[in-house]
Amino acid sequence: MSCITFRTMIESDYKPLYDIWVSTPGVDVTRADSQKGYRSFLERNPGFSITAEQDGKLVGGVLCGHDGRRGFIHHLVVIPAVRRQGVGKQLVADCLKKLENAGIEKCHLFIRRDNINGLKFWESIGWMERLELTMASYIFDPT
Ligand SMILES: CC(C)(COP(=O)(O)OP(=O)(O)OC[C@H]1O[C@@H](n2cnc3c(N)ncnc32)[C@H](O)[C@@H]1OP(=O)(O)O)[C@@H](O)C(=O)NCCC(=O)NCCS
Repeated sequence: MSCITFRTMIESDYKPLYDIWVSTPGVDVTRADSQKGYRSFLERNPGFSITAEQDGKLVGGVLCGHDGRRGFIHHLVVIPAVRRQGVGKQLVADCLKKLENAGIEKCHLFIRRDNINGLKFWESIGWMERLELTMASYIFDPT
């Protein structure tokens, strides 16, 4: 991981990040992932989301924030060329540290049930799959 660096995500990361999201199985890109939605998320959660770079190129990132009560992580991605070098683990560790510093005691994330490798990753870094829960959503404008 020698030449991979980590920094706070900024608005201009959107385009390269979006390109990674849409080409990564396991990341569900929705209307919430528009540039407007991305900007809004960063503004509401300043400094919590992290980017990984190698030689000035974005190679990974994670959206992180909280609602004052619980932390949330979205769209953790690392490009295939730099996987299994600890980048994902470092991105999550940096987020959790920020949440902890903000007084947040628990963090959640959404993951597709069929994302087996993703589940293995989370389990390997100490996250617990919540088999007793499911989720429900209300869509304001389903069109
Ligand atoms: C999941 C993802 C972010 C992991 O990134 P990464 O940088 O490769 O992860 P790390 O190198 O930090 O892995 C840490 C540990 O997680 C486990 N792990 C990671 N990827 C794994 C895989 N494909 N299969 C099994 N275990 C895996 C391993 O225990 C690994 O440690 P090791 O390499 O010493 O064995 C990356 O594979 C990815 O972008 N996947 C597609 C998007 C996705 O599924 N995101 C999560 C959605 S919530």
